[in-house]
Amino acid sequence: MEQVMDKPQGQSHSNFQGDDLPTKNGNLDLNIDLLIVGGGMSGMYAMWKFRQLGLNVKLYEAGSYFGGAWHWNRYPGARVDSESPYYGLSIPDVYRTWSYTERFPDHHELRKYFAHVDATLNLAKDASFNIRVTGARFNEEEAKWTVQTNIGSVTTCKYLILAVGSTSKIHIPDFKNITTYRGEIFHSARYPSYLDVRGKKVACIGSGATGVQVVQALAREDCQLHAYIRTPNIALPMRQRQMSKDEEDQGRCFYDSWFRAAKQSPFGFPYNLASGCI
Ligand SMILES: Cc1cc2nc3c(=O)[nH]c(=O)nc-3n(C[C@H](O)[C@H](O)[C@H](O)COP(=O)(O)OP(=O)(O)OC[C@H]3O[C@@H](n4cnc5c(N)ncnc54)[C@H](O)[C@@H]3O)c2cc1C
Ligand SMILES: NC(=O)c1ccc[n+]([C@@H]2O[C@H](COP(=O)([O-])OP(=O)(O)OC[C@H]3O[C@@H](n4cnc5c(N)ncnc54)[C@H](OP(=O)(O)O)[C@@H]3O)[C@@H](O)[C@H]2O)c1
Repeated sequence: MEQVMDKPQGQSHSNFQGDDLPTKNGNLDLNIDLLIVGGGMSGMYAMWKFRQLGLNVKLYEAGSYFGGAWHWNRYPGARVDSESPYYGLSIPDVYRTWSYTERFPDHHELRKYFAHVDATLNLAKDASFNIRVTGARFNEEEAKWTVQTNIGSVTTCKYLILAVGSTSKIHIPDFKNITTYRGEIFHSARYPSYLDVRGKKVACIGSGATGVQVVQALAREDCQLHAYIRTPNIALPMRQRQMSKDEEDQGRCFYDSWFRAAKQSPFGFPYNLASGCI
């Protein structure tokens, strides 16, 4: 589950394929209460929440495991800019038994976090991976959804939750002559684990949050790096630091009130605006 993109054998050098390699999922023609599409943070939380109501819940995910944005985004420098512990679920069983090692954890640690969520809440038993939902139709007479997938299965459910994220679809600009470009082209959300940029000429197009992160990380490598910036961005020093378990254990006593305060704040963080701390 750790490697999304190992070096493809005998395939083209472009890295635009969408999903992980499909695997056999057995017969998935199902009739259930609730189908959740997407196994990121939202889908995992919904699965836990609706199970508690006694619903028969299933989750389909296009990738090969949970994690959503963090399953796909493995480019150098990929990490949150929401500090610990706020980038996490406000579920006591989950946060009581988890400690991040950095103030702003990276994608490696975030994938471990999602594996921890899965293990703690026992989610995978009701999830199917490497399945992409391709269509859904609501049958008014039966008051049920009929959901199609890329493996040809049909799922019928009373409730359908689309937890597909706002950033899970990749965008490749239609650059002129892109198909005849002789170098290798990679999208940051499909960054291959085997890629070694040492000694190479590297061009990074885009200076959003991803561009800012990937350029900082690649600049440390022994490569010739050019950043192409259409619109300049503003980035502040993030003051990254290691977190000790002791420090997190002390903070953990306050997590429930922090999460409560975060819920009431306009930003989802428990900062006190009057203190000028943001
Ligand atoms: C690099 C990066 C860094 C970020 N950093 C932060 C941060 O610091 N703080 C913050 O608050 N937010 C951050 N975000 C925003 C991030 O999207 C959210 O924090 C969060 O991950 C969203 O979770 P989600 O479950 O809603 O969606 P996602 O995590 O995007 O999960 C959606 C899932 O749905 C699956 N899916 C989509 N369509 C289908 C389909 N048809 N069939 C089956 N499965 C499907 C996708 O494969 C994906 O796994 C970041 C995003 C990125 C990309
Ligand atoms: N919180 C974090 O730490 C973090 C880290 C990474 C990503 N994210 C989130 O993930 C999402 C995606 O971020 P992203 O940075 O990957 O994408 P993005 O925010 O959409 O930025 C895309 C960048 O590519 C540029 N671009 C697009 N098309 C171009 C073209 N044809 N020619 C030249 N430049 C082009 C854009 O320039 P223009 O601005 O000129 O269009 C922009 O700089 C965002 O929601 C972001 O907040 C968050």
